[in-house]
Formats: sequence, structure tokens, C-alpha cells
Amino acid sequence: MHSQNTGLKIVVLASGRGSNLQALLDAIELGTLQSKIIAVICNKPDAQALKRAQDRGIPAICIASKGKSSEVFFEEILQAVLQYEPDLIVLAGFMKILPPLFVETFKNRIINIHPSLLPAFKGLDAQKQALEAGVKVTGCTVHFVDAGCDTGATILQTPVDILPEDTVESLSARLLTIEHQTLVRAVTLLETNKVILQGNKTLLRQT
Ligand code: GRF
Repeated sequence: MHSQNTGLKIVVLASGRGSNLQALLDAIELGTLQSKIIAVICNKPDAQALKRAQDRGIPAICIASKGKSSEVFFEEILQAVLQYEPDLIVLAGFMKILPPLFVETFKNRIINIHPSLLPAFKGLDAQKQALEAGVKVTGCTVHFVDAGCDTGATILQTPVDILPEDTVESLSARLLTIEHQTLVRAVTLLETNKVILQGNKTLLRQT
């Protein structure tokens, strides 16, 4: 018997450009995803992600991080997210590390997209780190978020070749297209209940 995929209620946290958010919005519009983005929350007032949400008539909320203590900021974020009762929180270029209370509140319901094949090149400037390390292949990772920085069980990874002539810009641009596809695939797996979390690993159901 097949259970109906009615999709997930998603809140997206972003800080800037929002192209990964856009990939999700486009996949929803196309019907590739059954999930719904019910709110987009940004910590920067000028984030393009806010505009992308507004253009689709989705609540776009700015909770500025500037000039606030981390405690105050994350309490505001927590309260804002709680009111939407999301099934899933997607960090799409959210440039803040979530505190343990937030992660615990939404345990196993937060995912992040990172531009490297984790556990290599955690943190900022992952593409630059990969180029400086001289690796021939990098990629992107969608993973569950735990209390660490870019740790948590891997859901999907996609490799991308590094070309001899690559710069941070050219590599980032090529990688970004792959990120968009990988994030949409990961949400597809989640909304169809195909991701089984086993400790710090996931098992992906094939059928
Ligand atoms: C992406 O490279 C993502 O992997 C990283 O931050 C960037 C966000 O880009 N976490 P965008 O805002 O989705 O365009």
C-alpha cells in the first residue's frame, strides 16, 4: 500500500542571495516537490532571499541579527519558527550556527546544504579551501544539522570535478547548480519518507 505524499511544511532560514531557496520554490511550482514553504526567515534586511519569498506570496520575515546578543537573536528566531510548526527547517545559506536549544527543539528536522563533500572543508569558503588543498574533486552535501558546525548525518552528496583553470568564482558557480539539484533531491527523499536516520548515518530507502 502506498501512503499519500502530502509534502512537508518547510521553513527556510537564509542570509543572502537565496538561490537554493529559489531552487526549492521552482521545484514546488513545477510540482516536482509536494512540500510547501510556509515562511522564509532572514537575519539580514537586504537579503535577496526575502524578495524571492515575497514574489511568491510567502511570508518573508526579517529578524536582524545585527546589534543583538546571540541569545536574544536566537530566542526571536526560535519563537518565529515555532509559530509555523514546520515539519522541516532548511538552512539555505544561513550564515549562523544554531545554538543547541534550537537544534534540540527541532531535533532531526533541520537540514543544511554545504558546498563541499563533508567532512572535508567545513565552515566558511569551502570552495576556496578545496582549491587551496589541491583536491581534484569536491561537491556538495545535504545533511541533518546537529549542534556542531557542518556536522550531522549526511543525506546526499554530489561530487563535482575541479578543473585546472578553476577559480573560486568558476568553481562556486558550477557547484551552485549542483547544489540546487541536490537540495531538491534531498527534500524529495524526505517528503517521501525515504530517509532513515540511524545514529550519525542515514539509510536511503530505494523504493
Ligand atoms: C551555498 O553555497 C550554500 O551551500 C552555502 O551558502 C550558499 C548559499 O547560497 N551554505 P544561496 O544563498 O542559496 O544562493
